[in-house]
Amino acid sequence: MSLNTVANDNAVKSDLFDPVKLGPFTLTNRIVMAPLTRSRADDEGVTGDLQATYYAQRASAGLIISEATNISPQGKGYIRTPGIWSPQQVEGWKKTTAAVHAKGGRIFLQLWHVGRVSHSDLQPGGVLPVAPSAVRAEGVQAYTQHGFKPLETPRALDLDEIPGIVAQYVHGAKCAKDAGFDGVEIHAANGYLLQQFLSDKTNRRTDRYGGSIENRTRLVIEVVEAVTREWSADQVGIRISPLTKFSDIGDSNPEPLYVSLIDQLNPFGLAYVHVVEGDTGGERHPAGGFDLQKLRRAFNGLYMANNGFDQQLALDARANGLADLICFGRPFISNPDLVERLRSGAALSEADQATFYAGDEHGYTDYPTLSGAA
Ligand code: PHB
Repeated sequence: MSLNTVANDNAVKSDLFDPVKLGPFTLTNRIVMAPLTRSRADDEGVTGDLQATYYAQRASAGLIISEATNISPQGKGYIRTPGIWSPQQVEGWKKTTAAVHAKGGRIFLQLWHVGRVSHSDLQPGGVLPVAPSAVRAEGVQAYTQHGFKPLETPRALDLDEIPGIVAQYVHGAKCAKDAGFDGVEIHAANGYLLQQFLSDKTNRRTDRYGGSIENRTRLVIEVVEAVTREWSADQVGIRISPLTKFSDIGDSNPEPLYVSLIDQLNPFGLAYVHVVEGDTGGERHPAGGFDLQKLRRAFNGLYMANNGFDQQLALDARANGLADLICFGRPFISNPDLVERLRSGAALSEADQATFYAGDEHGYTDYPTLSGAA
């Protein structure tokens, strides 16, 4: 009996490892590589061969979602994060999309505007970051070229600047298409700009973008509307984190807010909703939360679950019909062949935190697969 046959005999039986339709694509499995900030772009936000190698090594994921990628200079909040607004950035990303496609993988780009989670050191002209309202994120630091600095009180966007924000998403969406991505994910989670509009903790506006749920969801819906004019809606996903406290975000009553958001998203026919279940990187069932399965039941596309999944949690989620797609983050950093390891029940290697957000190929493209290849 060959080693392969033994591995197959021992393989975990779950439709987690079976193909699934997502928009025009047939993904090879239901495992998704989460967007992960790795801070290895150059100072102009350009990626290249290094990122192409990294993503291609992980192309056995059914779908890869790129690291969060700035849609404009204003949307940047951390040094060495990539962009998707300049011709050089588009050219750089083409290397990644080509390398992933050559391995039979699929990759979406995550469209990112950080809003207040930035610093004047990172903003063009040294101006303050923008947000729905002048409300500072407490206890949050920005990683600037001069080291960590506390966030400042942002400048509230004027009403007449909002079309320009939507235009930034459109431009990023177009650039992602030029770069050869298979689709885009609108980042409306983790306390960044779109969630700052959604949440009453950060949105104190008195115009038509603040106050009622209808008003606070308006910008997200306008962005979805605009992006789905550039891309077929079934190649567009959206990420939300209704219960997170990440970057000092929060809402006094998230359930009706997110139920309304999902209801308003349904007519678009998006590919998926990507839900950070619980507090980002933390408690999956925080106190004061609500049953996120309500959103799954209400949504008419695929439901992608994220946050602290391991093999057992993922198998259980599929067995109990709790998610269509399961997103893994940290395990993909140190296990490029994560799908194969989950399928065979092999041990996972631990990721080295020291190289999450810094450095070069070390801690990035040098994690070996089970068969030893980097
Ligand atoms: C991060 O860079 O730390 C980061 C980016 C996007 C997220 C979460 C964290 O959604």
